[in-house]
Amino acid sequence: MAFEIMRGRRRRRDVLLIFCLTLLGLLATAVSGANVTYDNRALIINGRRRLLVSGSIHYPRSTPDMWPDLIQKSKDGGLDVIETYVFWNIHEPARNQYDFQGRKDLVQFVKVIGKAGLYVHLRIGPYVCAEWNYGGFPLWLHFIPDIKFRTDNEPFKAEMQRFTKKIVDMMKKEKLYASQGGPIILSQIENEYGNVASNYGAAGKSYVQWAASMATSLDTGVPWVMCQQSDAPDPIINTCNGFYCDQFTPNSGNKPKMWTENWTGWFSSFGGAIPYRPVEDIAFSVVRFYQRGGTLQNYYMYHGGTNFGRTTGGPFISTSYDYDAPIDEYGLIRQPKWGHLKDVHQAIKLCEEALLTASPTVTSLGSNLEASVYKTGSGVCCAFLANYDTHTDALVRFNNNSYQLPAWSVSILPDCKNVVLNTAKINSAVSIPKFVDRCVKETPIWSWFSEPIGISSDNAFPKTGLLEQINTTADASDYLWYSMSINITGDEPFLHDGDQTTLQVESLGHVLHVYVNGKLAGSGKGNSGNSKVSIQIPIILVPGQNKLDLLSSTVGLENYGAFFDLTGAGVTGPVILKSSSNGSSIDLSSQEWTYQVGLKGEALNLPTGNSSVWTSDSSLPKNQSLIWYKRSIDAPTSSDNPVAIDFTGMGKGEAWVNGQSIGRYWPTFIAPTTGCSVSCNYKGPYSSNKCLNNCGKPSQTLYHIPRSWLKPTGNTLILFEEIAGDPTQISLNTREMGSVCSRVSETHPQPVKNWNDELKGPGPMISLECPFPNQIISSIKFASFGTPQGTCGSFKQSRCHSQKTLSIIQKACVGSSSCSVGVSVDTFGDPCSKVSKTLAVEASCT
Ligand code: GAL
Repeated sequence: MAFEIMRGRRRRRDVLLIFCLTLLGLLATAVSGANVTYDNRALIINGRRRLLVSGSIHYPRSTPDMWPDLIQKSKDGGLDVIETYVFWNIHEPARNQYDFQGRKDLVQFVKVIGKAGLYVHLRIGPYVCAEWNYGGFPLWLHFIPDIKFRTDNEPFKAEMQRFTKKIVDMMKKEKLYASQGGPIILSQIENEYGNVASNYGAAGKSYVQWAASMATSLDTGVPWVMCQQSDAPDPIINTCNGFYCDQFTPNSGNKPKMWTENWTGWFSSFGGAIPYRPVEDIAFSVVRFYQRGGTLQNYYMYHGGTNFGRTTGGPFISTSYDYDAPIDEYGLIRQPKWGHLKDVHQAIKLCEEALLTASPTVTSLGSNLEASVYKTGSGVCCAFLANYDTHTDALVRFNNNSYQLPAWSVSILPDCKNVVLNTAKINSAVSIPKFVDRCVKETPIWSWFSEPIGISSDNAFPKTGLLEQINTTADASDYLWYSMSINITGDEPFLHDGDQTTLQVESLGHVLHVYVNGKLAGSGKGNSGNSKVSIQIPIILVPGQNKLDLLSSTVGLENYGAFFDLTGAGVTGPVILKSSSNGSSIDLSSQEWTYQVGLKGEALNLPTGNSSVWTSDSSLPKNQSLIWYKRSIDAPTSSDNPVAIDFTGMGKGEAWVNGQSIGRYWPTFIAPTTGCSVSCNYKGPYSSNKCLNNCGKPSQTLYHIPRSWLKPTGNTLILFEEIAGDPTQISLNTREMGSVCSRVSETHPQPVKNWNDELKGPGPMISLECPFPNQIISSIKFASFGTPQGTCGSFKQSRCHSQKTLSIIQKACVGSSSCSVGVSVDTFGDPCSKVSKTLAVEASCT
């Protein structure tokens, strides 16, 4: 008895002790935040392994007022983590002068994500690649004596460490690391250095060691990663980037399998077609990754956004960084990409427990057919059935049931029995966005300023020989003038009676205009494959002094490759005058040239300040080179949707709205006429030129003007037109959602959201939802249950069609913001027995 009492007391004491310890633990967590570690399977947050879905959003590629909505749409799409780079060159434009305002407000961005309940992966780099100017490095770094980038070089390492520490300290001060209670659970140092390391020899190897220990010593309390770095030293986790990473294994049995960049499309270039990646293929890559033991996958990009100002890398990368991402450049969800991936995330999360605790049993179900079963000790079972054949659909037997597996697809069975999702079968609605012209009715009043041809500034300087451009401008401007005078006496051997003179100019790029005696004589441009410009043009020289002015311009600085920082630009020669007939020539390359960095309009601050140089009368210059234009615009009020300006009619240049640069424009750079496909077969390995749109068309005509940069009326639009343009053709547009469509067949897996443990789901359903919260479905443009043909916007009824379809859908959907209807003969009757039927609907939202 006494013993019993003792035991009882001890039990009470133990319970009390456990209670106190738990309380202390909870308090400690509340005060000191989450402990983030990892093991061979996953990141461990507060003692729990986590299966995480992540997406990249780069804060300077949108505006702070867009951030909450972008993050909310990411959360709604099923993301747990937002990944961003930190862009050194926008934060430290001059050494030791920092800028974290507006779009550069990194702390605010991280806080917005934290507030939404999501985690952050902060990729500090500070080399970031990212199609960002100079890979993120500030240009001043290049001028530090004896510096060598991205290698074991003291001056470089000192600057890299200083900036990395600056960012880490900033995050710590704001308590933004998970270890402090904030949202940051991971950080990245360097970026894909493994892709180029061999070019740096032994110094490259020691640089990786240094970068790893430098990062670790900053003591963030959360793990660091290095992507594409198979020799990443412990404790740094090496991660994978690519279109597929299911075959990747980390470099130690103690590290989890993580994927930092799953490219959701690809970036576009001026002069290039527009890449897109079918969602069936993305879904396949994602599910294969989790099927094969991955536990963190990141979409690069989830929202790509816009390369405002001169931030784009290059050369020739366009201002739009849409990337065919699940959220489009303007912040609208892209369907069915966003919705199908959301369904994928929900399906994978149904398997979370099994995936994180069990080891898979992998069996072959035939050639290119594979089943992975994750079964826990307590009997929780989840299976993935994959058909990675690039052509052939398959019918497989698994656990005594039959399953249809389209080629290049994976089915998820969260109970090892019922298919809740197949990556190639899309349940999500499709919506077709469009731009609506909101042309301002009244005739605008234009002002203009003619940029002088050649040298106009007091800061111009003479120099013998041709100078490389980036070393000369330090990227303070896109533009560099190379000017000289040639005295023609008349008896030059390359100039005799009736003979024509040819001017040859060789430039490293990116764009070149040649003026002879104040007149445009010729232009040339490189492209994203080869930035060099080579010009051979006939010119007319007159006796006496002749003026030769070469305007060279850059279109974003190189961001990728070994020693990319040393890539040159500009007229490095030779520059030769030659006779077209007798072979005699004169090389002007080593003569004295006069240089001017930038334009007069830039020196006058035309884009951002007031200036008295503007003219306005009825003689508005059109289709002339080097003209600055200015007018006032009112914001479109017909909707509060995102705004785009259509620069059709203009040549090439840069545009500013109320002093903010919306980026370089170049609607005259046309994509090649071949290489595109109307529909792209998602089956088989994707590459960035597999699926292209827009061949033979301008790469970019529409440019985003963020709403927050616009006042209702009286906004100042300024353009600098470099080649030739007619600004009166410009129009303002809003980005609207047109129709919403969905197409679901009787054999589709039932939607994930209706799936439950009892497996009593209602079967396949069609769901329609208006893209904007204040919209309702106003009409049904098309509805057919049977064997409808075509795609969203051009659906057609066939002979097999249930007459009841339209009225049933109208009743269920019109007047609501969303609706769901079961896809079966029970609802619509059977218009043609023994045939597999589909329901296709197109609705309008207003
Ligand atoms: C990766 C790089 C990213 C981005 C991407 C292409 O190699 O890490 O920063 O440049 O390619 O969009």
